[in-house]
This record gives sequence, C-alpha cells and structure tokens, in this order.
Amino acid sequence: MKILITGSSGVLGSELKKKLPDALTPNHIKLDITNKEEIIDFFKKEKIDIVIHTAAITSVRKCEEEKEVAWKTNVDGTKNIINALMQTNPDGKFVYVSTACVFDGNIGMYKESSIPYPENFYALSKLLGEQEVKRLSNHLIIRTNFTARKKWPFPKAFSDRFGTYLFAEDVANGIVDILNSDMTGIVHIVGDKKMSMFELAKITTPEIQPMTIKDYSGPKLTMDMSLDSEKWKKYKISKN
Ligand SMILES: NC(=O)c1ccc[n+]([C@@H]2O[C@H](COP(=O)([O-])OP(=O)(O)OC[C@H]3O[C@@H](n4cnc5c(N)ncnc54)[C@H](OP(=O)(O)O)[C@@H]3O)[C@@H](O)[C@H]2O)c1
Repeated sequence: MKILITGSSGVLGSELKKKLPDALTPNHIKLDITNKEEIIDFFKKEKIDIVIHTAAITSVRKCEEEKEVAWKTNVDGTKNIINALMQTNPDGKFVYVSTACVFDGNIGMYKESSIPYPENFYALSKLLGEQEVKRLSNHLIIRTNFTARKKWPFPKAFSDRFGTYLFAEDVANGIVDILNSDMTGIVHIVGDKKMSMFELAKITTPEIQPMTIKDYSGPKLTMDMSLDSEKWKKYKISKN
C-alpha cells in the first residue's frame, strides 16, 4: 500500500510521518497542492493507494486576510488531489483532516451528524474541502482539535474557548487506528475530556496566564469546539 501524507512538515503531518515511516512525504516545495499539473504527474508516477491530506492554510487570521490564498490551498488544493486520485486510482482511499471549527461553537459536543455552520473563512474553506471529498466513495473525513506538545506559543490562553483536545500524536494514533478499520465517512477523533484552551496550555506551560475573548481582536473565532462521536471511541490526552 502506497501512502501519501500531504503537509508532512506541519504539526499533525510530522506526527503521522513518525507513525507511517514508509509513507511518501513530499514537502510544499516538492509538491505544491495548488499546482494541478504537478499533482497529477506525481499521482501518475507514484500510483498512490491512500492519501492522508493534512496540508492547508491553518491560520484563521491569514485565511481571513488572504482569502484567495486560503481558497486556492484549502478548497482548490484539496480538489486537485481528489481529482488526481480519482484519475489514477478511483478505489483509492482519501483521508481528509477537517476541523471542529466547521460548527458554530455555540453549544459544543457536536456529533458527526450535527449540522455545520462555519464562523470564519478558514472554517468555511475546510467545510468546502469536506464537500469535495464526498465525491470519492472511499473517503474518511476526520474532524478533530489538537495542538503540538510544546511550550504554548503565547503568554496567555483563552479560558472561555473549549475543546475535547488531544495532542497531535494522539490524533495521528487515532488516524492510524481508523485506517486499520473499515470505517468510512465522517469520524470525529476526540479527547474524552472537554477543557478550556487555558487548561490545555497549562499541561505544557504551567506559567500560562488566562485571557478571555474580550481581550482579543481579530476574525470571529469558534468558541466551543468540543466534539462528541457517535461512531468511534474517545481518546485520553497523552501525558508525555
Ligand atoms: N492545528 C489544529 O488545531 C487543527 C485542528 C483541527 C484540524 N486541523 C487540520 O489539520 C490539518 C493539519 O493541521 P496542522 O496544524 O498540522 O497544520 P500546520 O502545522 O499549519 O501545517 C500545514 C502544512 O500544510 C503545508 N502546506 C500549506 N500550503 C501548502 C501547499 N500549497 N502545498 C503543499 N503543502 C502546503 C505546510 O507546509 P509549509 O509550512 O512548508 O507551507 C504544512 O506542512 C489541517 O488540514 C488543519 O485544517 C488543525
């Protein structure tokens, strides 16, 4: 089975690369997902069986300020890879990493069957990517929320934004688990505990200070990103 991981230099992609050492992991320079011709040539040459598509513009602020780049990458880039897989291996599997931000964030604990309602352009672009992926019969749409296990990159973290957070390595384990099952469609990979971002940040950065949405200015954010699952087990956030 030939596996391609896109976005392998990213937070999740680099953890997936460790779990799947035989996968092809070209970086952005070697394989630009916005370059349709480059993508199709790559797929014709490599005959890919499984794509794990993590590449995206993930900054909410950048997506809002540079909508064209976000669209080209998150929507058209996803479409380019789907089309290349369809053309070269129509039965191939496509794993699309989506986000809890596709939901409005008003109530939380969203299930796979809950209705999405994105709050910002990043979330909209990811939801449109999901719609593209549904064209493939053998698809998995993973919705999740995670962070890298490292020092929190800011002095403060939100005490009023919530998620069922995991570390990226936990999500990578979850993706491998699901790939080893016959599951298809939308699946939420979630932690078994809803917590605030502040609580999450405290795990790696005990000195972190709390902040609230009142201290923030920028694009609209999804407040409660917690997810539930009616299809898959929940994971414990790893301790170290
Ligand atoms: N982080 C989260 O909290 C979170 C939560 C839920 C879902 N997600 C989703 O999970 C996925 C991975 O997120 P992440 O946080 O690991 O992302 P990340 O660290 O921001 O990494 C994004 C990756 O995409 C690559 N990339 C961007 N544009 C590209 C292009 N045109 N062609 C090829 N590669 C390109 C980047 O490469 P360069 O750096 O070289 O450009 C990088 O490797 C994303 O699809 C995201 O929407 C993230």
